[in-house]
Amino acid sequence: MRFIGALTVLAGSLGLTNAATGNFTWDSKTFYVNGAQHQIIGGQIDPQRVPREYWPQRLQMAKSLGLNTIFSYLYWQDIEQHQGQFDFTGRNDVAAWFKAIQDAGLKAVLRPGPYVCAERDWGGIPGWLSQVQGLKIRSNNQPFLDLSAKYLAKVGEQLAPLLITNGGPILMVQIENEYGYVGNDKNYLKALSNSLSRSFPGLKQYTNDGASALKSGFLPGALAVVDGGGTENGFRTLQSSITDQSSRGPLMNGELWITWFDVWGPKKGHAGNNGNAGDVDFVLANGHHFSLFMFHGGTSWGFGNGAQDAQPIQPFTTSYDYGAVLDETGRVASNFAPFRNAIAKKVSSIPAIPSNPPLQAISSFPLTPVASWFDMLPKAIASSTPKVMEALGQVWGYILYEHVATAAASGKVVPGNGIRDRVIVYVNGAKQGVIDGIYKTPATVNVNLSPGDKLWLLVENLGRADNGFSDQTKGIVGSVTVGGKTLTQWNHYSLPLDGAPSGLPSNAVSVKTNSAPVWYRGTFANTKSGMAADTFLELPGGVKGVVFVNGHNLGRYWTIGPQQQLFVPGAWLNTNGSNEVLVLELEPGTSSRTARGLATRTWTNNPDPDCRNCT
Ligand SMILES: *[C@@H]1O[C@H](CO)[C@@H](O)[C@H](O)[C@H]1NC(C)=O
Ligand SMILES: *[C@@H]1O[C@H](CO)[C@@H](O)[C@H](O)[C@H]1NC(C)=O
Repeated sequence: MRFIGALTVLAGSLGLTNAATGNFTWDSKTFYVNGAQHQIIGGQIDPQRVPREYWPQRLQMAKSLGLNTIFSYLYWQDIEQHQGQFDFTGRNDVAAWFKAIQDAGLKAVLRPGPYVCAERDWGGIPGWLSQVQGLKIRSNNQPFLDLSAKYLAKVGEQLAPLLITNGGPILMVQIENEYGYVGNDKNYLKALSNSLSRSFPGLKQYTNDGASALKSGFLPGALAVVDGGGTENGFRTLQSSITDQSSRGPLMNGELWITWFDVWGPKKGHAGNNGNAGDVDFVLANGHHFSLFMFHGGTSWGFGNGAQDAQPIQPFTTSYDYGAVLDETGRVASNFAPFRNAIAKKVSSIPAIPSNPPLQAISSFPLTPVASWFDMLPKAIASSTPKVMEALGQVWGYILYEHVATAAASGKVVPGNGIRDRVIVYVNGAKQGVIDGIYKTPATVNVNLSPGDKLWLLVENLGRADNGFSDQTKGIVGSVTVGGKTLTQWNHYSLPLDGAPSGLPSNAVSVKTNSAPVWYRGTFANTKSGMAADTFLELPGGVKGVVFVNGHNLGRYWTIGPQQQLFVPGAWLNTNGSNEVLVLELEPGTSSRTARGLATRTWTNNPDPDCRNCT
């Protein structure tokens, strides 16, 4: 008796009891959850782009659109920001995310990477991988596969109880992402598939590719899924190009693109709230399956945004609103209703749309300049030639490169081999100009150095290309020349800004035109809580910088647009009258600044004050 009792306890702890198990299967047309038909009416939400406090609300909104399944990418770069240090707290608490999905009565599809694209820095791959000897991303390369396997194993430990096979909501897991666009190495896909099988035992697997890339991106034995616009054509292509029956099953559009992302630029507009509800009609009427991309995009907090792999580089905005049906703040957008109506033709008893409070306005409050950034520099790292960002153990943010002239040099500043990505040039502390990698022809900055003059180059990583196979190292690569003359002997000040600065003085500093970057501080009162306290923070007169509210890095602002305000989740505000705003302005021009909160946002572009004639 005692022996049998012990076995029962063991079976319970391993999730082997009957009540806790489940299965996900399919035939040629239909998915089944525990034997019952499940038409996937899905939408994408990535938890790491959404304040954790709001996860349950976003899921209720998904239900009120008529969705039954949530697709989520996971961003490896946030979970393992530094090699071997795994962080599953806060927005990285992926187990809590899938538990919230389960609590909401929804199912889930897991898209853990290692590579996800997702308009993220380097497609979700941690920047430090570029420093691993012999590593080649997204290929059948042992160092890449080993590090990917370690990451997936850690995620697997977190998510074990949440797999359908253990009674959880996760139905299946995706191998890679749109790999067919860049390769056709089935050994690579097989190696990743083996990793996933070890980390998520018993979970069904699938691949997701654009129609033209299905053949190269599918893996025998894993369900082939198509993504993108033009669903009907996509399905037709899948039927003709994937003849291996082990990869055939129900037809699904794994990313039914609603609209598009935004990139920074004085002439780059906002994608807006469009949407192809006609595709949803077609899919549902024919018993097929889809996931809206995005149902809810959210925000690329901090430095999480990537860039388009283009020359010149096109960094994505902080906002990942995406023109999605649920806007960046979690409220219905104008294209919510058409999609809901399309789904309602097929799904009866969609829950009512929960009402959400409007955003609040916060009256203008002063921002006081409290510290010059370059008065707070960390210890310098010296070397004869400039080091790249990753070689300093840094992934995101800024580096100040310092050279003290030992000989005269004058002429054009060339900050290494390519501009990575935006360089503010100073001589003896005064700004001389900006060499900005978002332009094909950036401004030319000439300097005139005499012995003893101090040349500073503040280099900003604007975001690694999200599908970047080309060299994605940041900072200065190669040598800096002035008037064709190579400068040696550099001090590096690493400024990752991976948290709000602590111990900022509270005295005002004076700000002049062409000053070095300045920290401004302001406080504002707030009495509301939760979504009623949400607001859009606007920084009139700001050129470019980063904002922290109560220690949260809201991300970059940039006057050129199209984004003009930063989303402040009310859940991050105090109700006791003291909310602290810290603004790092890279190009301060005045001591008297203000900030305010708006209840509605605007999308607009302004000319680039640093590059009026650049294109
Ligand atoms: C899946 O679960 C259902 C319901 O419990 C069961 O009838 C069916 O046999 C299971 N299928 C597989 C393949 O295990
Ligand atoms: C307001 O509340 C926050 C969070 O509880 C706390 O850190 C802060 O010290 C409080 N400030 C005042 C002025 O009470």
